[in-house]
Amino acid sequence: MTAKVYTIASGKGGTGKTTTTVNLGTALALLGKKTVIIDADIAMANLGLLLGLEKSPVTLHEVLSGEAKVHEAIYEGAGGVNVIPCGISLQGFQNSDPEKLQEVMATLVEDVDFILIDAPSGISKDGVIPLAIADKVILVVNPDISSMADALKTKVLTEMLGGEIGGAILNRAGMERTEIDRQKVADILGVDVIEMVPEDSNVRRCAAFKIPFVIKTPKTPASVAFQRLATHVSGTDVI
Ligand SMILES: Nc1ncnc2c1ncn2[C@@H]1O[C@H](COP(=O)(O)OP(=O)(O)OP(=O)(O)O)[C@@H](O)[C@H]1O
Ligand SMILES: [Mg+2]
Repeated sequence: MTAKVYTIASGKGGTGKTTTTVNLGTALALLGKKTVIIDADIAMANLGLLLGLEKSPVTLHEVLSGEAKVHEAIYEGAGGVNVIPCGISLQGFQNSDPEKLQEVMATLVEDVDFILIDAPSGISKDGVIPLAIADKVILVVNPDISSMADALKTKVLTEMLGGEIGGAILNRAGMERTEIDRQKVADILGVDVIEMVPEDSNVRRCAAFKIPFVIKTPKTPASVAFQRLATHVSGTDVI
């Protein structure tokens, strides 16, 4: 089997990439899919924090600096998801070669179903490589115009790199009629909106508990959205 590799990107910071990677990855694992989630935000890593794995001795930093093998940096997260966290030291970042991420993928794709890469914001080198190595890039946007503008830039950049967009997730969607809605996102970005995730106060609360909300509060609106998306992603070849 060869894994499907999705990079979760946005352009703008703080739209919900890490939240999406953790909860979509956990939801896929709960469906019985062998799933790896990787924190490729190597300068400002925080995926491990959401899972209580922030003290992991070997991380993506050590792998990208050539000090460790990728399998030494895999930890089990809630729900059975496989996690490759990233360290938080500046030294670790400086020693990392972002280009090595491609080798990491080549090693990992062999015996898993899904790999989700949590991309950094921006378009520095460490941000560009995850866009280029994915089968599909998923854009996480918020209903505001600056998030849309940056997502559009990320889409264009992905296509320039020969990559493909698998769709957009509209995260923190509200109920106001004046807001950027599903259709507007699709029109502005020219991609399908594959899920709408509502604003949900449980998201922050579960982050504080270091447990993915799809596990801690499985019936709240954001959890239901990620479960639906996991079913969609795992069941078909749509994206
Ligand atoms: N649907 C939601 N409802 C409420 N809060 C949310 C939702 N999605 C994300 N958040 C909150 O928004 C903040 C940013 O989320 P997250 O860290 O996932 O974004 P990010 O895109 O990974 O950010 P960065 O670019 O800094 O890596 C977090 O505090 C998170 O708890
Ligand atoms: Mg993040």
